[in-house]
Amino acid sequence: MAQLQSRPAASRRSFLRSVGLTGGAGAMFATMGALGLAPTAQAAQREQPYRAPGPGDFTLTGRAAAKVVVVGGGIAGLTAAYELGKAGYDCTVLEARDRAGGRNFTVRGGDTTVDLYGNRQTARFTAGQYMNAGPARIPQWMVTLDYCRELGVPVEVFTNSNADAYLYNESAGMTAPVRYRTAKADVYGYVSELLAKATDKGALDAELTSADRERLMEFLKDWGELGDTLTYEGGERRGYSVVPAAAGTPGVLLGDVPAASEVFASGIGRYFSFEFGFDQAMLMFQPVGGMDRIPRALTKAIGAHRVRTGAAVTKITDTGGGVTVTYTQGGRTRAVDADYCVAALPPNILAKIPHNLGSGVQSALEAITPSSAGKIGLEYRSRWWELDHRIYGGITETDLDVTHIWHPSYGFHGERGVVIGYYNYGTDADAYAQLTPKERERRAVAAGVKIYGDAYRTELASSFSHHWRQTPHLEAAWHSTPGGPDHVRYRPLNEPAGRVHFAGDWLSYTDAWQHGAFTSARRAVTALHARVLSS
Ligand code: ALA
Repeated sequence: MAQLQSRPAASRRSFLRSVGLTGGAGAMFATMGALGLAPTAQAAQREQPYRAPGPGDFTLTGRAAAKVVVVGGGIAGLTAAYELGKAGYDCTVLEARDRAGGRNFTVRGGDTTVDLYGNRQTARFTAGQYMNAGPARIPQWMVTLDYCRELGVPVEVFTNSNADAYLYNESAGMTAPVRYRTAKADVYGYVSELLAKATDKGALDAELTSADRERLMEFLKDWGELGDTLTYEGGERRGYSVVPAAAGTPGVLLGDVPAASEVFASGIGRYFSFEFGFDQAMLMFQPVGGMDRIPRALTKAIGAHRVRTGAAVTKITDTGGGVTVTYTQGGRTRAVDADYCVAALPPNILAKIPHNLGSGVQSALEAITPSSAGKIGLEYRSRWWELDHRIYGGITETDLDVTHIWHPSYGFHGERGVVIGYYNYGTDADAYAQLTPKERERRAVAAGVKIYGDAYRTELASSFSHHWRQTPHLEAAWHSTPGGPDHVRYRPLNEPAGRVHFAGDWLSYTDAWQHGAFTSARRAVTALHARVLSS
């Protein structure tokens, strides 16, 4: 049955592909229309390979590209304008902040922010140093990398996991950090030992055939580096106190292998599953020079004159025949009239803007809730983490309120570097946000000293902290969409409301990733373009 259905579909696809190759994309769209296959807004909702609009799409259709106002100059808004621009749409992007990019925000020396509590900060990072306050890592499978390639944004490896970074659980009584490699050797070793011994005693005989048992035992001995008596005794995986070198220096293994109960009590095993995550597994990437290379390249491709910054939207009105968006800029009220609108603001901000898009839209927006996260960048005069700790990039995990400490994945062996002294969420992020920037620094540094020693304080040059829930015009690090983006309650946002289409990472299955913003924008663009072609 499945085969019978797939055959005609496959031949229809190859036919369309050949039309596309010989007659251009416009001929393909026109042919699709004749066959009753022209993309519709509904078709755009089904998963299919993305195909950017092109000027040739209008050939044979008697239609022309429309005027579009894009509300919000984050990644989703910029992408909508960029993709529509490929087919000649006349796009205007309205961005309330003084820079495009939304949560894609790279802080460099001289950058100034004022948060909703009134804290004013100017970064004093030296030339070449920066922190990515928002998105900072890109998995290989995300379309973000495709956009980097297409836009000519060079990328480099972002070290998301590092065997030499630390784990530190103060609440478990740890007084010194342990390296990832040591923690892993101990946890894997003891788990393997226990499972191997249980298997050997026949505890799993009901679950395993004798062949299974043999294979499992073979795996566990290797995985846990077990000795002949199926016992974990430590070994070189844990690391050395004196590393092996020339003849005469065989190295000295780290001593004092802790007992299994001590290892489990330390809670270090809880950090290992992170690197298995589909969206967090190495390799990961970052743009060379800062994540904001992406919105900068998008803005350039769109045309900087089309991106109006400092333009805070005050009203969205669907007039039936078009859309009028009013905004304030430099104290003056202005308006843009367009055929269509792509609303790409965060839902919590959009919900505060008067509109006539209906109560269904409003209640869907209000059902999505904003989340907190914050980061502090600590610039150091020396790269003591490389010099003294031999840590090159990667993340130290803690149970302290700083949560994650990131070592920079750029500028290796340089003179200075910016460590992310906290990357935390929820109540931890809000607690830090309520402090003055100087107090945030003091608290973050006190936490870091426990792990790394005095250099964490004495080598500090300056700091800059950023909290998304307290950032004007954004007021969220990411969003919680109960039930997922396809829940019926969000239907009014997943289809156009009159002439307004919605886009944002919050309307995707990869919320809090630029991939979500890119793919959501593509979806809105596909629906809008199909609509214009068939209107
Ligand atoms: N995507 C964000 C991160 O990787 C939440 O930290």
